[in-house]
Amino acid sequence: MTLLYEVNIFKVSFTRKKEEKNDKIYRRRNCYISKKIVTNTCSIAFKDIDKIIKNNSVNLTRTLDLGCGFWRSTSYLQKFNPGQIFGSDIDEKSVDYCRKNNKDCTFFLNTPDSLQYEYNPFSAIFSILMLFHLETADEVKKEMKKCFFSLANKGHLIIITRTKELYTANYTSSRGVKAPINSGDRATMYLSDINLVVEDTYWSEQQLIDIATEVGFESYTLEYPLAEKFDETILPPFLILTLLKR
Ligand SMILES: C[S@@+](CC[C@H](N)C(=O)[O-])C[C@H]1O[C@@H](n2cnc3c(N)ncnc32)[C@H](O)[C@@H]1O
Repeated sequence: MTLLYEVNIFKVSFTRKKEEKNDKIYRRRNCYISKKIVTNTCSIAFKDIDKIIKNNSVNLTRTLDLGCGFWRSTSYLQKFNPGQIFGSDIDEKSVDYCRKNNKDCTFFLNTPDSLQYEYNPFSAIFSILMLFHLETADEVKKEMKKCFFSLANKGHLIIITRTKELYTANYTSSRGVKAPINSGDRATMYLSDINLVVEDTYWSEQQLIDIATEVGFESYTLEYPLAEKFDETILPPFLILTLLKR
């Protein structure tokens, strides 16, 4: 696969603390986070979406927000005035909530057995802060394959996910607790604005690119948005991987 461009390569610093909690609580709480507006460190995940759309000429005619949660990210995408916007989640409660509260978009459940998403083909699929919910490389591959086969030709898959740094550094509203060593490791962080500890599965950019190549994506760009405060100026908390289906 061809690398088109990569920005803000960075150094890694580790600070580790131990904390463990039950998976189910993290999952439930992750959904809870989605109800909140985008603020502080989390806003860095969203701040460059417009640039990504422009720089990659992303076609927003039929856009899917995969892992829409309580439509926080969907409403963000709506700002760019895409033609038709769809949201999907594996959590039934999220989908019900979205359907009741946002009549401008079409929401549907992502069922594990299907090989493509309902309402496909899409011109663009965004997966915003969702990938770290997937616990095995097979799950990541299955979901990426589904994206590939649900995209129209020349469609983009845009993945925004947490970097290793988010589990190690101190940011405005988050602090690393338990750092991953390898891709696929469990990792923990503390979200100070909502006083919450969350546990994820960390996926490295290299593993994501390898899986995307296996699945059939042909080129990618990798970006690391930065902000103006604390560790956020040098250690990017999020990465944006934009994949193109030829
Ligand atoms: C941290 S929330 C982010 C929600 C939203 N994208 C946002 O930024 O506000 C992650 C969401 O991904 C959903 N999710 C996890 N695995 C998924 C999958 N395989 N397909 C679709 N949604 C998934 C979870 O249920 C949760 O609602």
